[in-house]
Amino acid sequence: AGATGGAEAAAGYPDQNITIVVPFSAGGPTDTVTRMIAEPMAAKLGGKIVVQNVEGAGGTVGAGEVARAQPDGYTVLMHHIGMSTAPALYQDLGYKPLEDFEMVGLVTEVPMTVVARKDFAPATLQDLVTYVKANADKVTLANAGIGAASHLCGLLFQTAAGVKLQEVPYEGTGPALTDLVGGQVDFMCDQTTNTSGQISAGEVKAYAVTTPERVKSLPDLPTTAEAGLPQLEVSVWHGLYVPKGTPQDVVQKLSDALKTALADQGVIDQMAKLGTAPVPAEDATPQAHRAKLEEQLGTWAKVIADAGVKAS
Ligand code: MLT
Repeated sequence: AGATGGAEAAAGYPDQNITIVVPFSAGGPTDTVTRMIAEPMAAKLGGKIVVQNVEGAGGTVGAGEVARAQPDGYTVLMHHIGMSTAPALYQDLGYKPLEDFEMVGLVTEVPMTVVARKDFAPATLQDLVTYVKANADKVTLANAGIGAASHLCGLLFQTAAGVKLQEVPYEGTGPALTDLVGGQVDFMCDQTTNTSGQISAGEVKAYAVTTPERVKSLPDLPTTAEAGLPQLEVSVWHGLYVPKGTPQDVVQKLSDALKTALADQGVIDQMAKLGTAPVPAEDATPQAHRAKLEEQLGTWAKVIADAGVKAS
């Protein structure tokens, strides 16, 4: 294959299963969003999409695997904000986000929530800050590995609170949330696409959402700014990628299928229940996705350098 494949490359595409790699555990937020759009995308493409979880190292294992895959449109990556933080965190990442991938389009931007095991002592976000500072040697903060959204949000929390906590890495926040509900870990910062059900069911304690506006599906939850920690503001943008050199008309077919999936009423409704929404159609494009990635790489490189964090 390669960029010279031209129109012929897309003529019979797809004539085999397309795999979307999720670089985190099954059942977690990235997996949930991917499975929502996979079926309507497959219907538009006239093919079958298989979701494969390739977890590890904060999403960088799965991303690396797709960077090295055949550029034929049959291996696609769903990744999130972690695509823009990993280069600043890993010395030997093994892939370059802007150079080793073609961007297909943005998908959604998901608010995060600060949640704790339900019997954790602090009652409010302000209490949480006070409590973790006083108990920094014993409080545990879960995340999905260095480079994960939960890791980044945890980092912003610790910077804002002026504390360094013991972090417990998982291969996705799906299993981290299970442990939070089970009381094995104290708290974490995770996407509404993973936490909404447990928050509504009262299985975890929720302190705040990390967006400037409240989330419609969780109306009682204050924003971090309302709760006194305005520095803790982040939302988790997602996008689809294929390996560099994938024929442009194949990328275009995938982007068109993504747009169709994001306009699907079932997808819109499922996302709304989980505190999020599809991006506008003009952002489900390679151009908008590349611009977002470029901007975010710069933003997070600076934040991470200032925080002095490195994975390796
Ligand atoms: C996941 O799918 O498990 C998450 O997106 C992990 C994270 O980045 O926090």
